[in-house]
Amino acid sequence: MTDAGGSPSVQPVGSKALYAMVEGGRYGAPTGRAFDIFVALVVVFSVGMAVIGTDARLTRHLDVFRVFEAGCAFVFAFEYFLRLAVCNEDRQGRYPHWFWGRLRYAMTPMAIVDLIAFLPWVIGEFTTIDSDKLLVMRCIALFKLLRYSQAFETISHVVRNERRLLGAAFLLMAILLVMISAMAYVVERRLQPEGFGSVLRAMWWGIGTLTNTGYGDVVPDTTAGKLLAVFAMIVSLGMIALPVAIIANGFAEETRRRNFVVTWQLVANVPIFSHLPASRIAEISAMLESHVASRGEAILVKGERGDGMYFLVDGEVEVMLEPEPVRLYPGDYFGEIALLFDRPRSATVVARRFSQLLKLRVDNFRRLMEQDKELAESIRQVATRRLAAGAGRRVGSRSDRKVEID
Ligand code: CMP
Repeated sequence: MTDAGGSPSVQPVGSKALYAMVEGGRYGAPTGRAFDIFVALVVVFSVGMAVIGTDARLTRHLDVFRVFEAGCAFVFAFEYFLRLAVCNEDRQGRYPHWFWGRLRYAMTPMAIVDLIAFLPWVIGEFTTIDSDKLLVMRCIALFKLLRYSQAFETISHVVRNERRLLGAAFLLMAILLVMISAMAYVVERRLQPEGFGSVLRAMWWGIGTLTNTGYGDVVPDTTAGKLLAVFAMIVSLGMIALPVAIIANGFAEETRRRNFVVTWQLVANVPIFSHLPASRIAEISAMLESHVASRGEAILVKGERGDGMYFLVDGEVEVMLEPEPVRLYPGDYFGEIALLFDRPRSATVVARRFSQLLKLRVDNFRRLMEQDKELAESIRQVATRRLAAGAGRRVGSRSDRKVEID
């Protein structure tokens, strides 16, 4: 038997289940979540012990620290080899080959962090290197926590997307640094050889000034040097603002893009839209607003003017009709009658549990009805049947063609 890479398959039985445990947390697998929480706790504990262990008052308990350190290192090593073993099962198919795939995985930044997490213990155990020197390495284990942060994924996306602009901003900063350091060297070197004796030395002052840190340990004495400092300080304000603005703008873009994808998926799951082409779903997504309702919340109130119709994406709502209320489920819509027939709400609609909805405001509703005659007809038919059915009879809306009446 051969795998995708053409080499003998070495996939152990149950490697999919192991993959779900090790990497499944981000996809919501319960075993994956439990595994993530356990590893995160060990990381916090391990680094906490490393930090506390630097306090001289606690070093008499050194043996206890050593035992815990060994325990954490064992967990990290086990986790590392487990991840390496199951990486071929990667959902995105990035590491399919049994050898090259694993090698590629081992080169990823997170795998390197996983390796560094238990290396200090191995080095400390098998060499004579002082454990204090390995402290920084032990703290690197904290980076493992980034695996569980979706926000960090967004940050790395933003930095990757904006790398050209950020690169240009930093290049500009570097040019400015060299320029002002060279000028400061020319005007200050005779009076202050200690601080400005070379362009390299002047760069210490240059960086302090350009970042507006200004330690004050090295300051220009000459008038020309002071004027140069004023110029550098003013220019640096803009220079620092540039990368900040790039990142902030990148964040806004990324959030907008993600929201669009999420809304697109929600709209595509609504049965009356699901048969539409992707471009049409995208247009409708732009018309819809995301809305949530908590348990017991009245989404619509009988007698009020209608300002929009709702699509139930997740949860459950109840149309408070007499004598018996009617329940609606994900995929159903409501609130269309008031808009279609220009009359007050025919009933109050209450969320039975936390519900996720998409709201189509009245102006967009009219536009959609104009644009899509078939869709308009299907909504009209459901509304007419609902009015005719009245209380106690549920008229679902999950299919634009099949209208069910129970
Ligand atoms: P609207 O009158 O705008 O506000 C109340 C909503 O309840 C109404 O639109 C319909 O969408 C919904 N509704 C009314 N009667 C029924 C019914 N029999 N079955 C399902 N939904 C209903």
